[in-house]
Amino acid sequence: CGIVGVTGKQNAVEILLKGLERLEYRGYDSAGIYVNDQDGKEYLVKEKGRISELRKEVSGDVHGSTGIGHTRWATHGAPSKANAHPHVSADGRYYLVHNGVIGNFAQLKEEYLQDVTFKSDTDTEVVVQLIAKFAQQGLDTKAAFKKVLSLIDESSSYSFLLVDHNEPDTLYVAKNKSPLLIGVGQGFNVVCSDALAMLDQTHDFIELVDGEIVVVKPNSVTIEDPQGKVMERKPFHVSTDASEADKGAYPYYMLKEIDEQPGVMRSLIKHYVAEDGSIKIAPELLTKLNNADRLYIVAAGTSYHAGLVGREIFEGLTKIPTEVHVASEFAYNPPLLSQKPFFIFLTQSGETADSRQVLSLVNQWGYQSLTITNVENSTLSREATHTLLLYAGPEIAVASTKAYTGQIALEALLAKAMGAQKGLTTAANFEVAQELTKVANGMQELVDEKAQIEKIATAALATTRNAFYIGRAIDYDIAQEAALKLKEVSYVQTEGFASGELKHGTIALIEKDTPVVAIITDAKTAKHTRSNAQEVLARGANVIYIVSRALAEEGDQIVLPDVHPLLTPLLAIVPCQLLAYYTSLQRGYDVDKPRNLAKSVTVE
Ligand code: G6P
Repeated sequence: CGIVGVTGKQNAVEILLKGLERLEYRGYDSAGIYVNDQDGKEYLVKEKGRISELRKEVSGDVHGSTGIGHTRWATHGAPSKANAHPHVSADGRYYLVHNGVIGNFAQLKEEYLQDVTFKSDTDTEVVVQLIAKFAQQGLDTKAAFKKVLSLIDESSSYSFLLVDHNEPDTLYVAKNKSPLLIGVGQGFNVVCSDALAMLDQTHDFIELVDGEIVVVKPNSVTIEDPQGKVMERKPFHVSTDASEADKGAYPYYMLKEIDEQPGVMRSLIKHYVAEDGSIKIAPELLTKLNNADRLYIVAAGTSYHAGLVGREIFEGLTKIPTEVHVASEFAYNPPLLSQKPFFIFLTQSGETADSRQVLSLVNQWGYQSLTITNVENSTLSREATHTLLLYAGPEIAVASTKAYTGQIALEALLAKAMGAQKGLTTAANFEVAQELTKVANGMQELVDEKAQIEKIATAALATTRNAFYIGRAIDYDIAQEAALKLKEVSYVQTEGFASGELKHGTIALIEKDTPVVAIITDAKTAKHTRSNAQEVLARGANVIYIVSRALAEEGDQIVLPDVHPLLTPLLAIVPCQLLAYYTSLQRGYDVDKPRNLAKSVTVE
């Protein structure tokens, strides 16, 4: 979910709506705003569906200078108008928006609120009703809020924005695990889940620490730690331009972001490679990594797939054994660790709750860590020992594209620097800047061939029920990401499979015309994948080949420019991203906002 708040600005409604549109990537099944004016007028508007639906409901007389807003990704309670935030207490005094999950909401309801009639099924409404209850018993708002926070159990996550009808220009703010920033203005202040939401208003943001209570008024931000001690904290500056978050002439963000990938490669070279070819990564970090006897990469979704490729890169260039783990699994079922582990978190947003859960464990265990992320000052960046940034520009489409290729390229830069520090020949011979430049040019060739990919999508994928991507070794890593791309935006049931393993069961699913995309960029396994493709062809499959030029044969539909064997995923994924994009469009879906998903999932 995404939340926003503002105090001290006449056009609060537009600021909230615009902010929510920028946060829509965090969820979009319902949305709402509450605004009030100093003349005592207040408005609550909620709607099921996108922010565009909410906008339609906001009539001309809705106005105010203080307000809060929310866009939801449902956890407790189905997506509906009643379950949309803000939630209001039965006495009409308190309005609350919430991102996160309250673990013990049912117990709190049972213990304190048996006499209250609830309007929604959400955990959030329990919190706002409880605040009202404690206020009725004589506590002031801050004390009532604090008391409720103290009753929320450890497993919970939240960021809250609360408004008291009796103090119309004040926002009460608290967070635990879920992200939240205060944006500082002249005569006004804002609050948001992500700086992107408020870049039109300010570029200066204050980060909050779990457990603090913050009182935000038009001319002041007062932060108190859990003991009530006032904390002074300077804002940090976010240099991202608001326009980078716009899609310009593109019909969809996903297409814009696919097209930006050559630029992402060049930007990484610019940020990480010095004139003399050396890599600009702190030697202290390289030493720590090189002292590890095993690297543990932890991530979710597409970032996990970038980790799978990372394993090949780190093992290839640094000779350090590397494991890759799905964060939500690692958190509750960690592997036996080696003597000297080092943890690498891959996360585009830097906010994924599953990954953060593991980082918290790693910090408790006292191990060092590195976060590779696209978002400066994000939670995982702040909480890890080291951070390396992707400099890819904001990624808005829910399906990740440029962050995946950015992460792989940065892994290559890092592994090169580590291997060079160790004096390994494989690393010394790996001319990373040159290789990534080749990749950038190759990507450009591929994104320029959209018409051909669109044709393949129309012919093979537009109406299919299911599909497969197959490959071996590094091509299997690509197949898994390619399959995720297709399934998440087109809803075609797609599997990324190790091609040799197909015959041990999954081949039973192959029917006449089932699309099977064979990815072949690995010279060692090319022949074997081709024979697995023959096996499905013999059973009626429609095989589409994506093959590196040096391994290509007549009839292969998509041919990739040749690049270093460890970097082929950077090229092979591009046509797969485009296949997913066009298939989604042909099926009539909103490719930027696939159903049921959110870009940044800040609940476990
Ligand atoms: C969500 C998104 C995925 C993303 C994953 C991890 O599930 O829908 O596209 O890959 O989170 O996100 P992160 O920001 O940690 O890379």
